[in-house]
Amino acid sequence: MTSATEATARLDPHDEIADIDRRLFGGFVEHLGRHIYDGIFEPGHPSADADGFRTDVIELVKELGVSSIRYPGGNFVSGYRWEDGIGPVAERPRRLDLAWHSTETNEVGLHEFQAWLDRVGSDLMLAVNLGTRGTQEALDLLEYANADTRTAWTDQRAENGRAAPFGVKMWCLGNEMDGPWQIGHKNADDYGALASQTAKAMRMLDPGVELVVCGSSSRSMPTFGSWERTVLEHTFDDVDFISCHSYYQEYDGNAQEFLASGVDMARFIESVVSIADAVAATKKSDKRIMISFDEWNVWYLFNPDGTESGHEFKGGAWPVAPRLLEDEYHALDAVVFADLMITLLQHADRVRSASLAQLVNVIAPIMTEPGGPAWRQTTFFPFSITSRLAQGRALRVPVSAGTFTSDKLGEVEAVNAVATIDDEGVSLFVVNRSTTDAASLRVDLEPLVRVLGREVAVVESHLMHEDDMYAANTLEDRERVGVREAEASVVGDVLSLTLPAVSWTAVRLA
Ligand code: AHR
Repeated sequence: MTSATEATARLDPHDEIADIDRRLFGGFVEHLGRHIYDGIFEPGHPSADADGFRTDVIELVKELGVSSIRYPGGNFVSGYRWEDGIGPVAERPRRLDLAWHSTETNEVGLHEFQAWLDRVGSDLMLAVNLGTRGTQEALDLLEYANADTRTAWTDQRAENGRAAPFGVKMWCLGNEMDGPWQIGHKNADDYGALASQTAKAMRMLDPGVELVVCGSSSRSMPTFGSWERTVLEHTFDDVDFISCHSYYQEYDGNAQEFLASGVDMARFIESVVSIADAVAATKKSDKRIMISFDEWNVWYLFNPDGTESGHEFKGGAWPVAPRLLEDEYHALDAVVFADLMITLLQHADRVRSASLAQLVNVIAPIMTEPGGPAWRQTTFFPFSITSRLAQGRALRVPVSAGTFTSDKLGEVEAVNAVATIDDEGVSLFVVNRSTTDAASLRVDLEPLVRVLGREVAVVESHLMHEDDMYAANTLEDRERVGVREAEASVVGDVLSLTLPAVSWTAVRLA
């Protein structure tokens, strides 16, 4: 039995958080499972183009609206030799990928991936290997990708079909180097020293790069906090961003606890900002290190028996493109996911880049079947709608709707919201985290109407809600879950919204 809570909010265009960096709507493509091979690249597929890329997947990635894409890993990058992925495809080596216990054919490398990005209209963000490799190899890759003068590397680039530089702006200095699972895992001092040395050298080669140093691979790591502090003490002057990674899942059927995930993400961001600013204070610096939240998603990493997913082949097999991390997302996942997007926007002043991990088949909003269809998972909808509607500047939207108690996080707001404003209008994103109570939300638009000097109307609205919150899209039923029009109307200066329990709503006002 559900009841409706009377809730109120206020939308004031002066309550500004920051301009939204489009890189907040980034993605992540790793050589992992069926992400590249049998995902974006399937030469035999009926929709494949001349280069073997599935055009049905390209269309879905375009619709998703992904600004920049982090590549090629992830755990994979810590054992990767980038040179394996250039030159004639027939001559490229097959290698064992220790991170995912698979065989990497290297049919897709830097050039092919850039060609795919040109088709989907996204920017490349590269990670260098600081696991098995070091500063020299990072410099080689940077020179190959970005140098605009004749050298041995740029001659090779031209021979491989690309005279002009790739011009990659954002670079990650390794991946999750705090994690014991990472090839070449280091302690904070050793990693900080290597990252600082590599960053300085990379800037000598190309002063225009933006550099991301590895933060903790999650807030629950035992070294969280001290890792950030030590690494930033080494690299503060050398880098622009520190990374955050976070994955969420429902444990033991406790949906209410799972729906508090946005609060955990907010505390994670705020803690890292505090540490970065504390390091700035000790250095008497006004510089502000930004956050690259370059892995975030819902991921059922832990199986109900407590084992981790993604380690199916560790017994000895080395398959090519195995089915790994192919999570099926239901409506509840999509609501939590949407709340994570709201949280990123609420921190747009410091989170200047974020990457949804990942894009196709691997914990992904897009699924494919070899030789068969591609389809949208439930999480596709909040991402594509938010990426399209959240333009301009982010605005705070204080909501009063009561709280629930989370075992882990204490009192949590039942309704969470953020808005954005641009020259054409205003967008509002609201999540109802309660598993039991619908909410009737009245949003006071008076400050907005006053500033605009005219009334506004709802021009577009979307609701993600299913009576069965575990409903999902599957190969057999690919359009079971989607969004529908929300109950939203403006009368005078008040926007009224009906928010079912466990729902996400997006409204465009113009
Ligand atoms: O996204 C899947 C994996 O999660 C990445 O390879 C790694 O960086 C993280 O642990």
